[in-house]
Amino acid sequence: MKLARKKIYLITGGAGFIGSNFVHYLYEKEENIEVRVLDKLTYAANLRNLKEFESRRGFEFIRGDICDAKVVKKAMAGAQVVVNFAAETAVDRSIDDPQSFLKTDIFGVYVLLNEARKNKNLKKFIQISTDEVYGQILKGSFMETSPLNPRNPYSASKLGGDRLAYSFFATYRLPVTITRASNNYGPWAYLEKVIPLFITNLIDGRKIPVYGEGKQIRDWLYVKDHCTAIYLLTCKGADGEVYNIGGGQECTNIALARQIIKLMGKTQRDIEFVQDRPGHDFRYSLDCSKLKKLGWEPQYNLAKGLQETVEWYGANENWWRPVKQKMDQKYLTGYWGRK
Ligand code: NAD
Ligand code: TYD
Repeated sequence: MKLARKKIYLITGGAGFIGSNFVHYLYEKEENIEVRVLDKLTYAANLRNLKEFESRRGFEFIRGDICDAKVVKKAMAGAQVVVNFAAETAVDRSIDDPQSFLKTDIFGVYVLLNEARKNKNLKKFIQISTDEVYGQILKGSFMETSPLNPRNPYSASKLGGDRLAYSFFATYRLPVTITRASNNYGPWAYLEKVIPLFITNLIDGRKIPVYGEGKQIRDWLYVKDHCTAIYLLTCKGADGEVYNIGGGQECTNIALARQIIKLMGKTQRDIEFVQDRPGHDFRYSLDCSKLKKLGWEPQYNLAKGLQETVEWYGANENWWRPVKQKMDQKYLTGYWGRK
């Protein structure tokens, strides 16, 4: 009897926030798989997110840069599914210093796509893009066909990767599917992202920095809901297509701050209004009917997701404490050198 060959997944950026959640989800869904994580281990990565898989057969961690064709070629060998999470991801950092964003989020995607073209086993290449490539929307919601108007170096670089991935479908018929998700939150997020920053600052008795008047709106997606959508698209996503993934939980930043404060038994005095982000996108909002037609629905509303997230950071201080200790003061206080 011939044994079925194990499906091989290459997960780039799998030591970061969403990538590591996705590796956990993959192992919940499938047993007979090989998972290779390729990650450069930037400041945002944390190998502890993957600790339980270290000694698992079929799991391999490769430290390397997606811009390095040699490393990528090796990691890509025989992979059927590639999911590219690897990116520089922080908008505020991209405003301070855009260069690394252009390199990883555009050139790195090119190197991955180019090696993927040579991989005869490839069935699906998922490029994880972002809703930020649309720019801001004051009324209504973005469709996958809406105009693309990124307004900061992060989102402009992500758009480069997004369209390069599409070009490899249109030109070479590479089986590419592109996802554009809204803001994620949940376990293992690096502490510069607003929700873990606020929660851990409040645990430490620090103030939470709200930019401007806090009127900007984000659509919050619990990371597990994001993972279910990506997994579905590895099986059912059409080649050459883009899918929006949104939580359908729009909230102003000040309302978000107040919800977290209430959950944690803190007071309004714990909020500090700080200088606004330059070019701050006012609102993101996604129409996700295309993805919902494939059978996806988010399972978390913001109240449930925030409750779990607050509990997770409360119970996992040993995970985030060393990260926070290494963080620069300017990230914790919302200073960003802008005052
Ligand atoms: P993250 O910053 O937590 O993780 C990124 C990971 O990529 C890190 O482990 C880092 O070491 C790795 N990496 C960076 N540059 C690399 C390189 N050159 N080579 C190899 N690895 C590299 O980011 P995240 O929040 O998990 O985001 C993952 C993906 O999802 C990104 O592509 C991001 O643009 C996209 N996205 C994120 C959100 C969100 O709210 N966090 C929303 C929509 C889309
Ligand atoms: P962030 O988590 O940086 O994600 P993004 O910029 O990709 O949306 O920020 C989410 C929102 O929270 C954004 O409108 C900026 C705001 N924000 C604050 O008000 N204070 C903060 O300290 C941070 C990091 C963000």
